[in-house]
Amino acid sequence: MNLKPGFEKYIPFQPQPIEGRTWPDKTITKAPVWCSVDLRDGNQALIDPMNLQEKLEYFHTLVDIGVKEIEIGFPSASETEYEICRELIEGGHIPDDVTIQVLVQAREHLIRKTFEAIQGAKHVILHFYNSTSTLQRKVVFHADCDAITKIATDAADLIYEMAQPVIAGGMDLRYEYSPESFMGTEMDYAAEICAAVLDHLHATAEKPVILNLPTTVENCLPNQFADMLEYFIRKLPGRERAIISLHPHNDRGTGVATTELGLLAGAERVEATLFGNGERTGNVDMVTLAMNMWTQGVDPRLDFHDINKIKEMYERCTKMEVGKRQPYVGELVFTAFSGSHQDAINKGVHYMKESGTDMWEVPYLPIDPADVGREYEPIIRINSQSGKGGAAYIMEHDFGYDLPKAMHPEFGAIVQKESDRVGKELQPEQIFALFDREYLSVPKTYQLVRHSFQEDARHGDASWVKFQGVIGYQGADMEAAGEGNGPIDAFFNALHQLPRGAIDGYQFVDYQEHAISSGSDTQAVCYIHLKDPKGEDVFGVGKSHNINRASLRAILCAINRSVRQGN
Ligand code: KIV
Ligand code: ZN
Repeated sequence: MNLKPGFEKYIPFQPQPIEGRTWPDKTITKAPVWCSVDLRDGNQALIDPMNLQEKLEYFHTLVDIGVKEIEIGFPSASETEYEICRELIEGGHIPDDVTIQVLVQAREHLIRKTFEAIQGAKHVILHFYNSTSTLQRKVVFHADCDAITKIATDAADLIYEMAQPVIAGGMDLRYEYSPESFMGTEMDYAAEICAAVLDHLHATAEKPVILNLPTTVENCLPNQFADMLEYFIRKLPGRERAIISLHPHNDRGTGVATTELGLLAGAERVEATLFGNGERTGNVDMVTLAMNMWTQGVDPRLDFHDINKIKEMYERCTKMEVGKRQPYVGELVFTAFSGSHQDAINKGVHYMKESGTDMWEVPYLPIDPADVGREYEPIIRINSQSGKGGAAYIMEHDFGYDLPKAMHPEFGAIVQKESDRVGKELQPEQIFALFDREYLSVPKTYQLVRHSFQEDARHGDASWVKFQGVIGYQGADMEAAGEGNGPIDAFFNALHQLPRGAIDGYQFVDYQEHAISSGSDTQAVCYIHLKDPKGEDVFGVGKSHNINRASLRAILCAINRSVRQGN
């Protein structure tokens, strides 16, 4: 062996020449037939394959998701696999609308054993395969194409012969053939061997055979695969006798793209696994494929509305972990760390509420988290990279405080400073604690001891309000009185007239309020924007069952915060 040292030792993929390809102009408009290979391809790739109980639980989850074709194993491969097949059939686990699929190599004794294993089942796909690729013919089988074809057609003959009495006995038995390593096979030869198998299985348009075309090891760009597939389908005599099925693995990390382009190129069925479990880098991920369709307005005909439950079952039964950034399911996929993303999400959610639109139009969230049973709460996490909008978003969505826009930078800076100080992301409760410490429980240098309002309503909307009260300051009480066109104005004027010029130089800028409920208790929250004596912005928040008291508290809160800062 005289191996070249690095990348030079690899043989580049030779694309299939094709004239007038049509797949690039197509889109996916309907769901394929889904077949789960979790219990076979997925299971065989586990460090500890699933036991009977785990396989049964997994099987029932697949049924609940809505998968109608489920490859349950390789019953001729081991006693355990055989027993599991028998338990599924005899234990009555298989609903009438679900077809089980069993895999077998194109070898006589294994085929015979497989027929034993499926006795008593109602709907079965018998899936047989042999490897056809140039490389396998050369290094594994040392056989030419005719010899490889003979393996497949001999198996097809035996299967067809053994199937007749079984079908006569009432079983709905269908056939599937995989030219294993299809992606490494010359397409003309792939079409030739598949056509021979179709002939030997007596396939017709009424009784089509599944031709499953595995990307056993992903070896090319997804568009190159689509070219191969379109070419293969054109070459296949009697295409209507076949259901074209894909079985992509994910060695280049493009299993999903290969599948999607394969569907454009004419495939109508997909073999996949939950979260992409399977040999090496896995089989293609059924969840991503289905939810990709969902986000394009296409019904995938699979139910992932409680993705966390499915993930929990998957991790328990397979002892595998779903990555934190795995599409549609990972712990972090509905989380925005960047401040500009948080702002945009916030605006998108507001837009949706205000416009009443029926469509999902939120930037940075390609899917409504609720569609997979996830919640809005964890969408935004606050760390030192987050912008002002993130903290405001948490305050609104987690705690019901709709902070005025002008206040976002002030509170955002407080949150960011704390996140820098502790050196990690802040949880919503910590953000609320900061809000409480900064506004609701700010030390009360000045406080409202008691007060009353007297209102004199005039013609039209005009009214005149008198404030009379006592403000506590450093243990002493100060009488305060003032008049204005409303309670806030009257109170503000009363503050200006306090003795010793105690509170002077503050300018009123703006005011906002809203109701906030927790359980049956509703209170008013008021936000006040003032300019302090140096002309700097300062905000205050007040909360009370009484709307006037909430605004007076907010004014004093702003002043107390300003005093605390030494203004
Ligand atoms: O990946 C593959 O080629 C397979 C076949 C047995 C279908 O799993
Ligand atoms: Zn496979």
